[in-house]
Amino acid sequence: MSPKPLESFRQRLPGIIYGGDYNPEQWPRSTWQDDIRLMREANVTLVSLGVFSWSLLEPADGDFNFGWLDEVMDLLGENGILVNLATPNASPPPWLATDFPEALMVERDGTRVGVGSRGHFCPSSPVYRDRSQRMARQLAQRYGAHPALAMWHIGNEYHAQCFCDLCDDGFRTWLQGKHGSLDELNTRWGTTLWGQVYSDWNQVHLPRPVRGWVNPARELDFARFATDIQVDLYRQERDLLKSITPGIPATTNFVQFFRVQDYRRWAPETDVIALDIYPDPAKPASLVEAAMQYDLMRHLGDGKPWMMMEQAAGAVSQWKVNLPKQPGMMRLGSYQAIARGADAVMFFQWRASRFGQEKFHSAMLPHGGEASRTWQEVRQLGKELAALAELAGSRSAAEVAIVWDWENWWAVEGAAHPLNNYNYREVVAGHYQSLWRTNAAVDVVTLSSDLSRYKVLVIPNQYLMSPTQQLAVESFVEGGGHALVSYFSGIVDQDDQIIENGYPGGLRGVIGGHIRDFSPLAPGATVGITPASGQTLLSGTVQGFDDGASRWQDDLAVEGADVVAVYTDGYLAGRPAILDHRPGTGRAVYLGTHLAQEALDRVVEAVLNDAGIRPPHAAPEGVEVTERFTGSRRYLFFLNHSGSAAVVDLEVSGLELLAGRQVAVGESLKLEPVGVAVIRAGTEG
Ligand code: GAL
Repeated sequence: MSPKPLESFRQRLPGIIYGGDYNPEQWPRSTWQDDIRLMREANVTLVSLGVFSWSLLEPADGDFNFGWLDEVMDLLGENGILVNLATPNASPPPWLATDFPEALMVERDGTRVGVGSRGHFCPSSPVYRDRSQRMARQLAQRYGAHPALAMWHIGNEYHAQCFCDLCDDGFRTWLQGKHGSLDELNTRWGTTLWGQVYSDWNQVHLPRPVRGWVNPARELDFARFATDIQVDLYRQERDLLKSITPGIPATTNFVQFFRVQDYRRWAPETDVIALDIYPDPAKPASLVEAAMQYDLMRHLGDGKPWMMMEQAAGAVSQWKVNLPKQPGMMRLGSYQAIARGADAVMFFQWRASRFGQEKFHSAMLPHGGEASRTWQEVRQLGKELAALAELAGSRSAAEVAIVWDWENWWAVEGAAHPLNNYNYREVVAGHYQSLWRTNAAVDVVTLSSDLSRYKVLVIPNQYLMSPTQQLAVESFVEGGGHALVSYFSGIVDQDDQIIENGYPGGLRGVIGGHIRDFSPLAPGATVGITPASGQTLLSGTVQGFDDGASRWQDDLAVEGADVVAVYTDGYLAGRPAILDHRPGTGRAVYLGTHLAQEALDRVVEAVLNDAGIRPPHAAPEGVEVTERFTGSRRYLFFLNHSGSAAVVDLEVSGLELLAGRQVAVGESLKLEPVGVAVIRAGTEG
């Protein structure tokens, strides 16, 4: 019978997993006992161990020293704390660099990096691959049957982009596999522009520095290659671990809003999805962006569990100004992840370091020790989560999706466009924010995902669209779906080549119009817009439209759509700014300009209403509501982000799990600022 890694994982780690990165090698043995005592006090169930331990585990080539790790594994195991054991490949030891300098990464400008940081390896290097896999094999053979081993944490935040000659060869081989012939590559890269036509494969290279502007199609292929080579590296190590420990789940940790790795390509390779996330306490909107990341992770998992693998208990140390989380914010943020499907709340790191770059980074156990506020909050949260085991493994079911697409990110920010101070993350986050405030459940998808389960699809500035993706949008709308598409979408194909047929070539039929011309606006300039007379989308409420629109205005020609809003000034005064088209049984609303947030909120609300989307439960502004399902059970989460006390008029009866008390329909549920409630709906008690 084939082993089922996740089943055994669930049996051993039931409930919401709690813990963090544990780096005992930075501390004397005498501290380890204290660590264990305090971990037990905080109900820590899992620690990530050995993430950067290679140089200690193998101080010289082939000379292994596992004694200290044996002790730590035993100590944790004896105390009922399980281990997410890392393969330490993210930081190769100094001897590897000295003995095999070719194993070091080369920057784009040709500089070969030295030791003294981390992530400094070349992903193609045979000796790096050999030695890192030898280490992984040693770990699997030594600890594969250890009672504390729960899962593998392979590497750490894979991302290195190397420009050495070996990677250059690798890129050529990758291109040959993808494009087949040089003619095809020349066509896809548009090399007739600026005389770049290649006549032999040996002329084709990684995008090392060039004299001036770059070829965007080459950059795009390089970005794809840069993900694929890391995935390949991970996969080799994972397969090796699986061959020795087939029953142990394996994953690696993803990073929030990480431009250099396309996690859509990564997700199928992991047994569980793991995310490192550091919302900035200085930016209130960072919790909205965090929600978007959680909705993305859940969707990437496609039914697999997802873990919050790293967060900060308080402040980080890598930014200009590192604000701490205010009282209650760490708890609120942790519940937010659970509310959106996480089965684990973990931190970087367990005990704050005394030295090195991250000595001022917060930890579960800060320098201030048990007396610190952070520790008190960490311990308290651990207690609470231990009582919420029933939530684990549950799912949510969204009918709304928003598109977040790495290839589009690379392309839309990648070349000379009408607008070049474009920030894809900010634009998508703005659209997501409008969804977030409605409390409708949302999945974060791409146009290549299965869209059949959604009623509403939000497509923010999807500049790049492959022919298959264009068809997917068309059939979504014709089949009854409601799409909200914003400007500069459907412009180029997967090779960054204009889709002919007039802008937006990829979506002209869907939006019922075409763009005669793009008109970016000067920085800071706005253009007036107003709802058109007789339009039916906004039904009276037009707040936010007074603020005008900015950044962009399409000069739109209508081809079957209704006009929702028009420009009121500038050279396009009186011409359409927003279209509403109803091809087939669906609807496509097109925004030809960049709306102020409040106006975007109104449009999103209108599209959702029309599609019959309702939040899981009504709540006052600033209270985030989500639902999770486990079998026949339904859980409602209420998270108060509003900054003041809030009252929810309950539409359900059930058990509020945090206070352990019954609540009933009609009751006023009071939430303190940063307060949280989790209700198991129903009458089972
Ligand atoms: C993560 C990394 C950790 C730690 C943390 C600090 O990206 O995986 O090792 O450096 O950042 O916030």
